[in-house]
This record gives sequence, C-alpha cells and structure tokens, in this order.
Amino acid sequence: MLLKDKSGVVFGVANKRSIAYACARSASAQGARLILTYQNERLEKATKELADALPNEAIALECDVSDEAALDGAFAQIADHMPQVDFGVHSIAFAPREELEGRFTDTTRAGWTKALDVSAYSMTAITRRMEALMPEGGSLVTMTYFGSEKVMPRYNVMGPAKAALEASVRYLAADLGPKGIRVNAISAGPIRTLAASGVSGFSQFLDIAKEKSPLRRNTSADEVGDAVVFLASPLSRGITGTTMWVDCGYHIMAL
Ligand SMILES: NC(=O)c1ccc[n+]([C@@H]2O[C@H](COP(=O)([O-])OP(=O)(O)OC[C@H]3O[C@@H](n4cnc5c(N)ncnc54)[C@H](O)[C@@H]3O)[C@@H](O)[C@H]2O)c1
Repeated sequence: MLLKDKSGVVFGVANKRSIAYACARSASAQGARLILTYQNERLEKATKELADALPNEAIALECDVSDEAALDGAFAQIADHMPQVDFGVHSIAFAPREELEGRFTDTTRAGWTKALDVSAYSMTAITRRMEALMPEGGSLVTMTYFGSEKVMPRYNVMGPAKAALEASVRYLAADLGPKGIRVNAISAGPIRTLAASGVSGFSQFLDIAKEKSPLRRNTSADEVGDAVVFLASPLSRGITGTTMWVDCGYHIMAL
C-alpha cells in the first residue's frame, strides 16, 4: 500500500484503455483516494463508471485544459473535495488529425498552436494550480513519447510538443523543488489507445517496438501505471526533473 492515505488527481481519462485510467487503477490499488478528470460532457458517464469501478474511493470531474476558466472551475471543485493533494498525473495530448499524416513540413500554424497548447502548456497550467494544493510538497507526473527526440513517421507536430513538455518538466522541477514538489515525465512505449489511433500507421510503431525492444514485447498501460505509483510514492523522493523510460528498453537500440 505505497499510496495509503494519499490523495491524487489523474487528468485525461477518456475510456478504459486510457493510460490515465491504468494510472488510476495502479494508484487506487495502492490505497490512493482519487479524482479522475475528463475533457467534456461526452465522456462524463463513462468516466464516472470507471471511477466507481476502482478499488478505492474515486470521483470524476470535467476539466478542459484548453480553457483557463474551465481549469479554474475544475480546480475549485478539486479543492472542495481535496484541500490537500499529494500527487497528480497529467495524461493529456491532442493534435488535429490532419497534422498526424503527411509531412511535418506542412504543419499549419493553427495545428502547431493547438497541439502545443493542449499537449505541453497544459502541464504548466495544471502544475501552477496543483502547487496551491500541495503546501507540504507532492509529486507530478506527465506522459511523453520518444518522438520528442527521434523522428517518428507521421508523429509530426507531436514531436516538438513532447520536446516542449519535457523541457517544461525540467523548468517546473527547478521552480518547485524548494517547496518539496517533484515533477517528472514517463516516456512510454507505444500503446494502443484512442490518442494513438489518431497517428496514421500507428500499428507499425507497435510492430517495430515489439520486434526491436530488448524485452521483445510491447509496453502495457499497467506498466506505466505502476511506474506512476513509484514516482508518486516516497520511494522516488530523490528523483525530480527526469524523463523515466517505460518502453521495454526500445530507446537504447540504434538498429
Ligand atoms: N498511447 C501511446 O502510445 C502513448 C505513448 C507515449 C505517451 N503517450 C501519452 O499518454 C498521454 C495519454 O494518452 P493515451 O494514449 O492514454 O490516449 P487517450 O486518448 O486515452 O488520452 C488522451 C486524453 O487527452 C484528453 N484531452 C485531449 N484534449 C483535451 C483537452 N482540451 N482538455 C482535457 N483533456 C483533453 C482526451 O480527452 C483523453 O482523455 C498523452 O499525453 C499521450 O501523448 C501515449
């Protein structure tokens, strides 16, 4: 029970395949009390059912991270339910579908702005608001991908978005370290989810990762969830500002 009596907020549940939900399952199984957030009303019923299915107490709230007023409203509700929060998981990304096919060179200004806003800036927007709920310190974790460092076909604008997210993690960690708040990223191997299905030809990512990874298999969402438990728990108390790989070792391979 690594997270017994701890309170956490998991941002970005869309369905049972969401990495956010795997994080919620792992954290809940370790005793955490949770708030799950979903993007819009369309996801409300399913996310509430998913919250009810967790082994420990959990509720679900709406939070659209692209809107400052919606963020403020969501955080007012979070503070009502959890005046003090121990950990947070940011598991949110978006790019318009047309940006995830064809050439990176053809990225539009609007596509770039949307992708960077939702996928990278939202981590800073959330972290600043979480800081106010973490007077005794805490741990924040976000989800990134290898496309930030190496070119992945058709990942396109999400590459710079994840690079910006990883750099943000370092700056946030430096700002908040003196307050005992740690900020880290997990770089997960490819996992079949709703967001992943937006990248055209995503099955190829899975096949190659399975063939080339030292562990010769794909990463599961539950493995990411368990790594979040580690980063949220005191076991990782000396770790901040890092990107931790949970990708069956794929990133070490050149060929
Ligand atoms: N699936 C993979 O292969 C993989 C690998 C590495 C990293 N990741 C990252 O993991 C995170 C979670 O993605 P996932 O694969 O679980 O897919 P997912 O589709 O289940 O989750 C993405 C979430 O982002 C939310 N979202 C999008 N725009 C939003 C907005 N404006 N406000 C609030 N929420 C918004 C969606 O509603 C959804 O819940 C993302 O950051 C993704 O880039 C995924």
